[in-house]
Amino acid sequence: MSDFKQMLLIDRDDDAGAATRPESEQELAAVAWAIVRSGALADLAATESEVVNSAAEIPVTDTGELVSAIQQGGDPLGDAFVRLRSPKQRRPMGAVYTPPGIVDAMVGWIAAKEQPARVVDPGAGSGRFVLQAGRTFPDASLVAVELDPLAALLCRANLTAAGLDDRARVLVDDYREADLGSCHGVTAFVGNPPYVRHHQIGSRWKQWLTNTAASRDLPVSALAGLHIHFFLATLLTAQPGDIGAFVTSSEWLDVNYGKLLRGMLTDGLGGESIHVLAPETLAFEDAATTASVTCFQIGSEARSLKMRRVANAGDLADLSKGRRVSKQRLKQEKRWSPLFAQAPPVPEGFVELGELCRVHRGAVTGANATWITSANNPQLPARTLFPSVTKARELFDADEGVLSSLRSLRAVIDLPADLSELDDDDRALVKRFLRFAERNDAHSSYVARHRNPWWSVGLRSPAPILATYMARRPPAFVRNLAGARHVNVAHGIYPRDPLSDDTLDTLAASLRSGVSVSQGRTYAGGLTKFEPSEMERIPVPSPALLAEMSS
Ligand SMILES: C[S@@+](CC[C@H](N)C(=O)[O-])C[C@H]1O[C@@H](n2cnc3c(N)ncnc32)[C@H](O)[C@@H]1O
Repeated sequence: MSDFKQMLLIDRDDDAGAATRPESEQELAAVAWAIVRSGALADLAATESEVVNSAAEIPVTDTGELVSAIQQGGDPLGDAFVRLRSPKQRRPMGAVYTPPGIVDAMVGWIAAKEQPARVVDPGAGSGRFVLQAGRTFPDASLVAVELDPLAALLCRANLTAAGLDDRARVLVDDYREADLGSCHGVTAFVGNPPYVRHHQIGSRWKQWLTNTAASRDLPVSALAGLHIHFFLATLLTAQPGDIGAFVTSSEWLDVNYGKLLRGMLTDGLGGESIHVLAPETLAFEDAATTASVTCFQIGSEARSLKMRRVANAGDLADLSKGRRVSKQRLKQEKRWSPLFAQAPPVPEGFVELGELCRVHRGAVTGANATWITSANNPQLPARTLFPSVTKARELFDADEGVLSSLRSLRAVIDLPADLSELDDDDRALVKRFLRFAERNDAHSSYVARHRNPWWSVGLRSPAPILATYMARRPPAFVRNLAGARHVNVAHGIYPRDPLSDDTLDTLAASLRSGVSVSQGRTYAGGLTKFEPSEMERIPVPSPALLAEMSS
């Protein structure tokens, strides 16, 4: 007798070669049904009943050993399924079952974060995730969604054998349209969504993807695989505060079609962390791709996401590890996998500046000779003259890193878009100035032609911290107590949420002491430049540490 039949305890007189015959799937169905029919999950879907009916003639006597193997955490039914159906036969459904180490670690991640009231396993297969979750969360209700009727039947058998059938439901349905029902409390979504490439996805579902993503202003590519559809379906059905962890191939991190998932993670899906698994963890048999586990909390407003490489599945459950990368930056990056490789990590107690502040370039006037003048030019109304930092030197020379007076600064002429706002005298002055500007071709510079109206420079509000960004020395970070504006010789650092003056002082001081030229890009000749996005990557003390340092 083959191992398979020994394990499945099928009572046959003539069993020669039976394990290799096509009816073996029927044998599997017969055994599964023998377990299910005694429990609370015996109300089968029509497609499952067909599978059971096709195996009705096969006698099954004793399932005791099998049940105890399941109770001890094994999945003999799932193992048999995977052995009976070749990878080629399973591919159209993306049926690849997850090794127990990864299942345990992902459920462990959820347990370290929440005690969910409900667990949903989308594309449950034989139910490896939903079973482990059922054992881990004794009070949670369990929902397994599986389209393949034989796999769904195995999942029912496993839940029944494990004694979890009383609080479980198995929906034999397409996850994208399954009715999960409602839940009072947190739902945890955990599983391994099927990896099916786009050319095996029908036009109806491609249209669903395109329309649904567009209705949420998410970037979409119809080339997205089925696993991306599952993420979107989760976003649609989940409630704020729900959490999830899905293991998938990691190619979505870089390819164009992955932009939908990347967009979701930096937005409503609330990406918390991405863990790229070392190839040795064998998440996917027969697949020459690395796997990644993506963790999310719906509606999370966290400004950064943790990214890390994981050497083995056991490391997954440790929430404290991972390099924080600001979502602001992730939105700008088209490929995410290089971010996993980058050192150095942000030190303990520090965050990236971009988490606390936005960094904006200063305004480009298009013709400094026309738009920059003395701060008390009598030819123009005072209300159109804005004292501004117009030379990097003004920041390098700031006394002890503080700009406390506007006196030595020149002014940028920033005119209102609507000149009728001005009184008659002021408007007359401005009109005369505009004739002068036109004579100097200031209206036809590239920049002027691309702003509306051409005479409005559009200065930003004063930034509480100003920084130089191009020199042969580290940037100057200057507290702007004077309220100066700035043109594009400087970047402005603007807190995302209000920060006290003391905290801003401490932040500026820490930037001054902590930044080296090696953190920017160096050009030939040794010039170092910090783009705003590069400046946002500078590690700075976390808000808690800043508060401590300021007190
Ligand atoms: C990658 S397997 C994961 C199985 C199981 N959760 C595990 O990790 O061991 C994906 C499962 O999704 C199922 N599936 C494929 N398309 C589906 C769909 N549209 N809705 C629900 N399940 C689907 C497949 O039959 C397969 O069992």
